[in-house]
Amino acid sequence: MRSEDTPLIRLEDYRPSDWLIDTVDLDIALHPTKTRVRALLGMRPNPAGQPGAPLVLDGDELSLGALRLDGLLIDESAYSATPQKLTLHAPPARRFTLMIDTEIDPSANTKLMGLYRSSRVYCTQCEADGFRRISYFLDRPDVMSVYTVRLEAAKLAAPVLLSNGNLVAAGEVPGGERHFTVWHDPHPKPAYLFALVGGALDHVRQNYVTADGRSVELAVYVEPGKAGRAGWAMDCLVRCMRWDERVFGRNYDLDVFNVVAVSDFNMGAMENKGLNIFNDKYVLADPQTATDGDYASIEAIIAHEYFHNWTGNRITCRDWFQLCLKEGLTVFRDQEFSADERSRPVKRIADVRTLRTTQFSEDAGPLAHPVRPRAYKEINNFYTPTVYEKGAEVIRMLKLLIGDGAFRAGMDLYFQRCDGTAATIEDFLACFAETSGRDLAQFALWYEQSGTPTIVASGRHDAAARTYTLDLAQTTAPTPGQPDKRPVVLPVALGLVGTGGDLPLRTASPAYAGDGVIVLDQPSLSVTFSDVAEPPIPSLLRGFSAPVRLELDLADGDLLRLFAADSDPFNRWQALQTVASRALVAAGRDATKHNALVATAGELAGALGDFLRVQAPADPAFAAQVLRLPGQADIAREIGAHVDPDAIHAAHRGLSVEIGLQLGAHLLVLRDILNTQARYSPDAASAGRRALRNEALGLIALSAPDAGAGLAAAQFSSADNLTDRLAALAAMTLVPGDAREDLIARFAQTYAAEPLVLDKWLMAQALIPEAGTLDRVKALMQHPAFSLTNPNRVRSLIGGFAANLTQFNRADGEGYAFVADIVIALDRTNPQVASRLLGSFKSWRMLEPGRKVLAEAKLAMVAQTPNLSRDVADIAERTLA
Ligand code: BES
Ligand code: ZN
Repeated sequence: MRSEDTPLIRLEDYRPSDWLIDTVDLDIALHPTKTRVRALLGMRPNPAGQPGAPLVLDGDELSLGALRLDGLLIDESAYSATPQKLTLHAPPARRFTLMIDTEIDPSANTKLMGLYRSSRVYCTQCEADGFRRISYFLDRPDVMSVYTVRLEAAKLAAPVLLSNGNLVAAGEVPGGERHFTVWHDPHPKPAYLFALVGGALDHVRQNYVTADGRSVELAVYVEPGKAGRAGWAMDCLVRCMRWDERVFGRNYDLDVFNVVAVSDFNMGAMENKGLNIFNDKYVLADPQTATDGDYASIEAIIAHEYFHNWTGNRITCRDWFQLCLKEGLTVFRDQEFSADERSRPVKRIADVRTLRTTQFSEDAGPLAHPVRPRAYKEINNFYTPTVYEKGAEVIRMLKLLIGDGAFRAGMDLYFQRCDGTAATIEDFLACFAETSGRDLAQFALWYEQSGTPTIVASGRHDAAARTYTLDLAQTTAPTPGQPDKRPVVLPVALGLVGTGGDLPLRTASPAYAGDGVIVLDQPSLSVTFSDVAEPPIPSLLRGFSAPVRLELDLADGDLLRLFAADSDPFNRWQALQTVASRALVAAGRDATKHNALVATAGELAGALGDFLRVQAPADPAFAAQVLRLPGQADIAREIGAHVDPDAIHAAHRGLSVEIGLQLGAHLLVLRDILNTQARYSPDAASAGRRALRNEALGLIALSAPDAGAGLAAAQFSSADNLTDRLAALAAMTLVPGDAREDLIARFAQTYAAEPLVLDKWLMAQALIPEAGTLDRVKALMQHPAFSLTNPNRVRSLIGGFAANLTQFNRADGEGYAFVADIVIALDRTNPQVASRLLGSFKSWRMLEPGRKVLAEAKLAMVAQTPNLSRDVADIAERTLA
């Protein structure tokens, strides 16, 4: 389908459904190629809909078998059926049942939407609109039904048969080869939360008693032989269930909770009611096959999907425009959970890094859109960093603005008032307006206006008057479709740092909200603080209190003082990032500024030397973040136009080398101090030590390649865990030569039987910043570890390459050509994975003219390809617009 032919769906056109489906009885006989689906729908007219309207059910690649109304076959003149639609021209204006038979082929389903097979396992993915690939339905989130599901399959092929809710029956089918289970989910839900799983799976289980006394059987299902890797996910599940009881007062509401890991999955994981289905990458973990980063991701994603049970499932979205109602809020909840389980400042730093690289870049390019979009052609293209990460930032700001008490009361009210409904952002905000007594009308602009605001700040000290005046101004640059921007509500957490630490904040300004927060809700304002005896250094946007760019003209010396003395750990980290970022931006713009880099490296190394010796051993996870420079993509975005990726890379590498040289011995000593670890444990403290040790290794490899290569090889051999092995490989990828190639080969041998580990191996090679990488990646596509049909393999190798700033953006355009060709090929089998990959082009407009022309040509080639999916056509068109 060409995208110009696809309708634009608009928020303002929302109408309630004319029909409702109270009950759904599914009878599904699983078969690899001929799965029979019988759906019995309990229908009634919606009092809020149009009386007498036809019944139009959604479908996608479906073929209709029999159709019965109240048990009787319907005359063919009374309906029409296409693969996309089943229309009953004049249904009775009363309750009735509709029985629909369809037959589907899960083995042929390469889109991995609807019912498909993933290495012998039957599974489903229905969000956002995959249920219509299983049966004709009102496939919209505001139609909620009570489901009863009977599953039947061959006993040998699918001894495990799972669906949503509680198991109510199981048994043999006469004949002896097949068996069945029956599941009932008492909680009404939209079709996107339906799920089934069938296959030969192992599991671990555990009983859990909720705070309100319900006994729940928890289980994690994995491929046969992998139950030994399911323990961490189970541990995370139990911890996040307790956390939600304690922090949000939310108890689980069914007798079973199942998590299933499958190896072919478009996304990370899915919150189907009582039956979460996961990409196995986010479930399986043991020290030999998962890194510290994997352990942390599993913790976050298990929690995220579990938390959806209340924020998403019990209260769902009225329509897909409200997606951030569940996703932004649930990301906020999982971020808070991880912050409580680990180090809050380190988690915040990591989240802000992600926000800047993914969301700020989206907001700065052609795909910018509001947290609540107003229109879409393909909803799957709106599961974005803006909806997720910025959506979470909006909740965080709300909490800061109204305070913890009103926030918790607002959440309680939301759960109470909206439970069982399909809600909107307005419903959500109304709860907080009520509990805080605030007017949130201007705050709501965060949901409507796209683009990253910039705050320009400057301060003046008046020694005679003993005052300090802070001038703050906000602007937001135009984004596609939004030329004129209004001022948003910006909570600016701040401190004034004097020689003895934070000065008390005394001001009569109405913009000062107390507790160290100024609310900037106008284009500009000034706040004067009194009793300021000495010129302070302003520490603004503490904890990254708003998702903005900050321009504050502080000298490097002042930033270094903040690094040493700020009471806010986030801003300590930010201070050094700012020093580095400025130098990188200058050198990335103009290579003749390279000398300034050396000076900056001196300043940074000076500050880091003491820090690494004295403070780092006490908080290695934080120190690892301090040691890591801003990412190259962030520097590119700061430069903003005429970007030369090679210059940025040279600056980045140059600064790292200089810092590494100047820190030299410090880094080696640090590695020794941190090397006292006994056996591997994934806890945050141990992970922090490894992170810092491995940051140091990276700097050593860059600045002293021979020594680095030796250390990396030794670390690879002696390590008892994947984190240290992979870090050795990653460090070595920066050092060309035989030693690197040897290590790459050893790694592949060691992990030949571990696809998820080889994914990391593929990615590490795809990220090598050298001209040979494109050929290497092309060769790796022939490696047995690679497959174009498995999303994880594609994301690792091809996605990794597309994230390689210098090589994707090769000056000859071959990087663009390669990725564009793969997008086109992949689109024929899996449009969702293809369209996400095409998203790599989103920053093309800021490139220097030569690359820009080449990138645009490849985008145009994609856009003009016949028979594109809606997914890819939509991204191609919006990226070019
Ligand atoms: N509901 C989503 C899964 C989803 C995403 C379904 C896109 C359909 C389209 C799930 O809750 C989710 O958000 N998963 C994330 C991971 C999460 C920790 C942010 C994912 O899959 O990336
Ligand atoms: Zn989610």
